Amino acid sequence: MLFKTLLFSFGLISVHAASVLPIKRQSSTQDHPNITDTDILNFALTLEHLENAFYTTSLQNLTAANFTKAGFAPAVREFYEQVSEHEMTHVANLTTILGSQAVQPCTYNFGINNNVSTFVAISDMLETIGTSAYIGAAHYIQNQALLTTAAAILAVEARHSTWINNAVRGGNPWSTAYDTPLDLNQVFTLASSVIASCPSNNTAIPVIANPPLTVTPATANPGENITVSFTSPTGGAVNGTGLFAAFLSGITPTFIPLGSGNGTFTVTIPPQLRGFVYLAITNSSSAADDTVTVAGPAFFNFAFNANNTITPLKN
Ligand SMILES: *[C@@H]1O[C@H](CO)[C@@H](O)[C@H](O)[C@H]1NC(C)=O
Ligand SMILES: *[C@@H]1O[C@H](CO)[C@@H](O)[C@H](O)[C@H]1NC(C)=O
Ligand SMILES: *[C@@H]1O[C@H](CO)[C@@H](O)[C@H](O)[C@H]1NC(C)=O
Ligand SMILES: *[C@@H]1O[C@H](CO)[C@@H](O)[C@H](O)[C@H]1NC(C)=O
Ligand SMILES: *[C@@H]1O[C@H](CO)[C@@H](O)[C@H](O)[C@H]1NC(C)=O
Ligand SMILES: *[C@@H]1O[C@H](CO)[C@@H](O)[C@H](O)[C@H]1NC(C)=O
Ligand SMILES: *[C@@H]1O[C@H](CO)[C@@H](O)[C@H](O)[C@H]1NC(C)=O
Ligand SMILES: *[C@@H]1O[C@H](CO)[C@@H](O)[C@H](O)[C@H]1NC(C)=O
Ligand SMILES: *[C@@H]1O[C@H](CO)[C@@H](O)[C@H](O)[C@H]1NC(C)=O
Ligand SMILES: *[C@@H]1O[C@H](CO)[C@@H](O)[C@H](O)[C@H]1NC(C)=O
Ligand SMILES: *[C@@H]1O[C@H](CO)[C@@H](O)[C@H](O)[C@H]1NC(C)=O
Repeated sequence: MLFKTLLFSFGLISVHAASVLPIKRQSSTQDHPNITDTDILNFALTLEHLENAFYTTSLQNLTAANFTKAGFAPAVREFYEQVSEHEMTHVANLTTILGSQAVQPCTYNFGINNNVSTFVAISDMLETIGTSAYIGAAHYIQNQALLTTAAAILAVEARHSTWINNAVRGGNPWSTAYDTPLDLNQVFTLASSVIASCPSNNTAIPVIANPPLTVTPATANPGENITVSFTSPTGGAVNGTGLFAAFLSGITPTFIPLGSGNGTFTVTIPPQLRGFVYLAITNSSSAADDTVTVAGPAFFNFAFNANNTITPLKN
């Protein structure tokens, strides 16, 4: 599946929350120490521009007849028009707040090839990553009013994700009792794989893309073995000693040591995982934020039915 091959991630819980909740994932004080609300808003706007461009340009090419032929009910495309309007509204809202500091849209390569099923699969992934991005960014926000706006957007992204994965594709409506936060660089790693280029005068955002993580086979399910490969930021092979495959699901990651090896490693996907899961490579077995992420994440959708059994999606 295409969206499983797109390698992307975002995920922190605030230092404050970590002190009162029984969670393992904690943000380090070194994690984006000087980031401002303007940075976070421009980061969010970068993602909203991406989603807005995705829906606007894709739906221009995909007619109602195309959706019907691909096996979707007529209401599906009509609801997608509403999703598209939401993303457009988010762009307008964030742009107004940021004023002259607002980043402009980039150019993108989504690889839809006018295929409705590909469009639906990528929309599922984008809404899910968008949700994880807003969860992970929340603790950086200092202005309380902005936090409310971000939370209001977050909920809508999550509703989009649920509608697509459950109503449109016949899969699970949620993953687990908790959604998954992704940290800034993790999200940017995923987003940057579809960004072709950005306006050179765009306000700089203090995030970087991690080395991408390649998973083979991309369609593997929980309990199955995968090969993961990645390089160091400078392109060289990496020894896996001291590194971990961190499966991010909810707020408590599962860490599996990679062991000695040279750039390519075999990992068994934990059999209990269900729903949307990210895989990052970390050099910590207790945290999975940007300060310890070495590569990735990659994105998985382990769709399941009401009996918690892994089940293929309809389209
Ligand atoms: C954050 O700000 C402090 C104080 O200005 C500075 O010493 C430090 O280098 C900055 N860190 C980053 C990552 O920019
Ligand atoms: C829309 O279709 C045209 C013609 O096939 C193609 O060149 C263009 O890339 C498509 N746009 C998107 C966003 O898929
Ligand atoms: C989508 O619909 C357009 C216009 O009806 C048609 O030209 C095109 O071949 C259709 N594409 C697919 C993939 O069915
Ligand atoms: C953005 O949304 C928030 C929450 O609804 C609202 O308070 C604010 O006025 C909106 N800003 C703009 C520019 O639309
Ligand atoms: C769309 O992509 C899916 C998945 O790759 C493929 O099975 C299907 O045949 C494609 N549909 C068309 C009309 O090309
Ligand atoms: C970048 O340039 C464009 C076109 O000249 C302009 O509309 C936009 O406001 C500029 N952006 C920034 C952040 O200065
Ligand atoms: C996965 O790999 C391990 C060794 O790395 C092997 O023991 C196990 O049988 C493999 N599992 C499957 C399902 O292939
Ligand atoms: C690891 O891989 C790199 C590049 O692929 C190679 O140059 C190096 O010799 C390898 N090291 C070991 C110990 O196999
Ligand atoms: C990786 O590092 C460990 C510990 O330093 C070492 O024992 C092992 O030989 C190294 N493996 C490779 C492939 O370089
Ligand atoms: C762990 O990874 C982070 C992120 O790549 C890096 O900044 C840090 O130096 C690494 N720490 C160790 C002990 O290798
Ligand atoms: C769940 O299992 C029950 C009992 O085996 C079965 O009747 C039901 O159809 C299953 N539901 C789904 C969604 O597979």
